[in-house]
Amino acid sequence: MEDKINIIKLSKQLLLNNIDFFIKLGKDIIPRELQYWDKEHYLLEVDGKWDYSFCCILEEKLMGFLICTKKSEKNFVHINKMAISKEYRSLKIGSKMLATLKNTCLNNNIDAISLFTNKKNEGALNFYLKHGFQIEDIIKDETTERYYMIHKIKV
Ligand SMILES: CC(C)(COP(=O)(O)OP(=O)(O)OC[C@H]1O[C@@H](n2cnc3c(N)ncnc32)[C@H](O)[C@@H]1OP(=O)(O)O)[C@@H](O)C(=O)NCCC(=O)NCCS
Repeated sequence: MEDKINIIKLSKQLLLNNIDFFIKLGKDIIPRELQYWDKEHYLLEVDGKWDYSFCCILEEKLMGFLICTKKSEKNFVHINKMAISKEYRSLKIGSKMLATLKNTCLNNNIDAISLFTNKKNEGALNFYLKHGFQIEDIIKDETTERYYMIHKIKV
């Protein structure tokens, strides 16, 4: 199946045409505090969004996305949100999408990829650790513990 999966750049048109899919999948993320993204959050114009965001398609069906922002002050690309449809998880689709992002960053001389993940989201934490991200900082408040993670592209 892996060879039938297409990773393509996210465009504003594709996002608009499939906005309900994005909103629904975005609500299926741990923890609940991250489930607030609505249409206006997906459509927010941020630096680098249309250069570093991707989605995956299998037989014309959209099944996941990776939305990023370019952090120019640090020359980092930050992953804001990443999700694969539940029934297609653990099939290496997320890995393929992340590999596409890493390549794009390498080709554009980006220094590192950053993201936040939550202690409660063990699946995602393991996924990122497996793919070379390291915990740079731990941010604790009364209810949550978040990890700021970095993957260096240029050594
Ligand atoms: C995290 C996520 C994007 C990974 O994509 P994926 O296509 O499922 O991941 P892959 O198949 O490429 O890699 C699987 C690896 O990720 C980890 N992993 C991902 N989800 C997991 C889960 N629910 N339980 C356990 N391990 C999980 C494991 O280390 C797994 O390795 P294994 O296959 O050797 O056991 C996907 O599982 C997902 O959409 N999760 C819900 C949304 C989310 O939490 N997003 C991240 C926070 S914004």
